Amino acid sequence: MSQAQKGICAEPNLHALYLTFTVVDDEVQAMRAKLAHVLDLFNHFDEEYYEAMVSGVIAIGTEYWYELYPRLIPQEMAPFPSMQCEDRGAPITPGDLFIQIKADRTDICHAIGTEVIQLLKPHVDLYEEISGFRYLDGRDLTGFVDGTENPKGMRKFAVAIVGDQDQEFAGGSYIHVQRYRHLMTKWQLLAVHNQEEIFGRSKADNIEFDSDKKAQFAHTKRTNLKDADGKSVEILRQSMPYGNMTVQGLYFISCASSPKPFTDMLRSMIFGDEQGEYDKLLDYTVAETGCAYFAPSINFIKQQAKE
Ligand code: HEM
Repeated sequence: MSQAQKGICAEPNLHALYLTFTVVDDEVQAMRAKLAHVLDLFNHFDEEYYEAMVSGVIAIGTEYWYELYPRLIPQEMAPFPSMQCEDRGAPITPGDLFIQIKADRTDICHAIGTEVIQLLKPHVDLYEEISGFRYLDGRDLTGFVDGTENPKGMRKFAVAIVGDQDQEFAGGSYIHVQRYRHLMTKWQLLAVHNQEEIFGRSKADNIEFDSDKKAQFAHTKRTNLKDADGKSVEILRQSMPYGNMTVQGLYFISCASSPKPFTDMLRSMIFGDEQGEYDKLLDYTVAETGCAYFAPSINFIKQQAKE
């Protein structure tokens, strides 16, 4: 059975390091081998510092994938679904390789990041590095708890990991990454009850509003979708807050067995319903990056390193 990369369904950690690379040469065989080494690195640190709950993800940008593994394409591979409606947008930005490192120790994230870069250096440029951190009791920097309605237990795997419908890619995951920058001053000027209306949940104690009490523009209304058979459309969110005293936001990560759920949710947020009720959260946060990746199974990466 194909084994999914550990970081895809990992529990929330205290720290993360997100590295986005562009690839600058066409040495694909070397890159395939090095990605298998990166998996070994993750393993090594996980064993050495087991108390730090280390996990990693290697994800390959949908464009670069065609160069790296040209004969083997996941069934639903698609570019990032860039969208724009009025002043609400989801831009596409560069990203050939994405490395997610998570641990409960920031020094371990740093140590792994340093080694990953040493290994990949001749072939890549570092496009962006972002450090994520757990904020208070799992809150986004808007002050609301993030991740409550994420699938749990074995359901996580069903939602986030490709199953036997695409045998060659079973154990993989379609990953979408967006870095959102919050307009904190504007957000903080809102009364708490208006902030709560925007999320459809209470702030301090994180209670969900009854569905008929939620505004159509509420974030949890716009992202709580049903498919044609009335089944919930789901993603696994691995997002974390990032920032400093000048810039703050959410590093949003969606993992799913298909790119469609994320795309449908994003469309619902940006374009809204038939009445044009878009996600009001987007008046207070701006997507500055956007990339689509596929994170293949461990077996796939190791096998391809040998070919
Ligand atoms: C800055 C951007 C975002 C922030 C601050 C944010 C924050 C939140 C918060 C606080 C919740 C409520 C608690 C929870 O269930 O996690 C939530 C729910 C959710 N968000 Fe986001 N989110 C953002 C972007 C997105 C995007 C881009 C998507 C998908 C395209 C998304 C999908 C969801 C889903 C599916 C839920 C659960 C809805 C439900 O069933 O109640 N979020 N988000």
